Amino acid sequence: MYRKTPFLFSAVTLVILLAACAVPSATQPPAAQPPAEQPTTPPQEAAPTQAPQAELPPAQAPEKPSTLTVLCTPQEDWCQAMTRAFEAETGIKTSYVRLSSGEALARLRAGKDNPEFSVWWGGPADTYVAAKAEGLLEPYISPNAAAIPDSQKDPEGYWTGVYVGALGFCSNRDVLAKLGVEKPDSWDDLLDERLKGQVAMAHPASSGTAYTAVWTQVVRLGSVDAAFDYLKKLHNNILQYTKSGAAPGQMAARGEIAVAIIFSHDCVKFADEGAPMLEVSFPKEGTGYEIGGVALIKGAPEPEAAKMWIDWVLTAKAQEIGATVKSYQLPTNPEAKVSERSVKLSEVKLVDYDFIEAGKSRKAITQRFEDEITVAPK
Ligand code: G6P
Repeated sequence: MYRKTPFLFSAVTLVILLAACAVPSATQPPAAQPPAEQPTTPPQEAAPTQAPQAELPPAQAPEKPSTLTVLCTPQEDWCQAMTRAFEAETGIKTSYVRLSSGEALARLRAGKDNPEFSVWWGGPADTYVAAKAEGLLEPYISPNAAAIPDSQKDPEGYWTGVYVGALGFCSNRDVLAKLGVEKPDSWDDLLDERLKGQVAMAHPASSGTAYTAVWTQVVRLGSVDAAFDYLKKLHNNILQYTKSGAAPGQMAARGEIAVAIIFSHDCVKFADEGAPMLEVSFPKEGTGYEIGGVALIKGAPEPEAAKMWIDWVLTAKAQEIGATVKSYQLPTNPEAKVSERSVKLSEVKLVDYDFIEAGKSRKAITQRFEDEITVAPK
């Protein structure tokens, strides 16, 4: 008897302790999410309860993720509209950082061992191809990806297409008229001497838009060398290589240049936002286009929320948000409404743009651009 008492005492204590541990989670109302500022613990990483089943209340539903940080490459107002809508729909506190494609890639590379973002949304697929090759992405095949055409997604699920858009020329009609130059409809039109200092594009190292422009030259002219011959000539007329892809469109809107090489939907956006003198045209030799991607980041701190984001951005409803902020990219979900302001790809002559080849060549080509073009005298 004497020896049995402590054992009994400890067994009773253990049961009471286990029950006490179980009580808070049993009584916690489902709505009581951790405050947003607390570090997010994805549900599958929550410590499993060790208490014996008999002592536990019925199993709890997994806790909903509470925060999400998006690496966002499209225009700022679209990033804002999307993150707000996702937050309103899911209750997940969603923030974003807007970075151009090349900057985004550099940031993912730098944070490889401790990623600060969980999901990357927008920007041409070439950079996603490069990121996949560097081991920066995690495959995720969303159930909603079934609706997206095979040509607009990675078969292994490393990235999925969320929008499409064609590259074009964005001209300021008034500036062209002053210069006595017609609206360009050929890549060679941009080499006109009267356009010296009147053309702008972004730098392909930082911008996916500009990389699309460079790879378009490779495809239409048949080799990297031929592309660089053209880019050297074009350099004579370039006023500035901007960091972000769409920025040259704003320069054209302000009358600082005559022609911007940007995605055509960005030109339509700026025209609709108060620059009606802007006009889109396309090169008759053919132009490049983008498939804007979405991808789960490897080692994402909020993987469940990131997957919910990917599922959501592939829905027709989410893809229709773009047009509400005058981002007229074409949706990849065939069910989504297409704005009448969108440039339809069927109306444009496209080059045979291979995103895999383009992505693989990204590093070498952007380095060559840096070495041969950026530093070249005019
Ligand atoms: C703009 C366009 C997007 C494109 C993005 C690429 O925001 O609207 O369609 O994906 O540029 O950005 P970047 O700055 O890398 O050229």
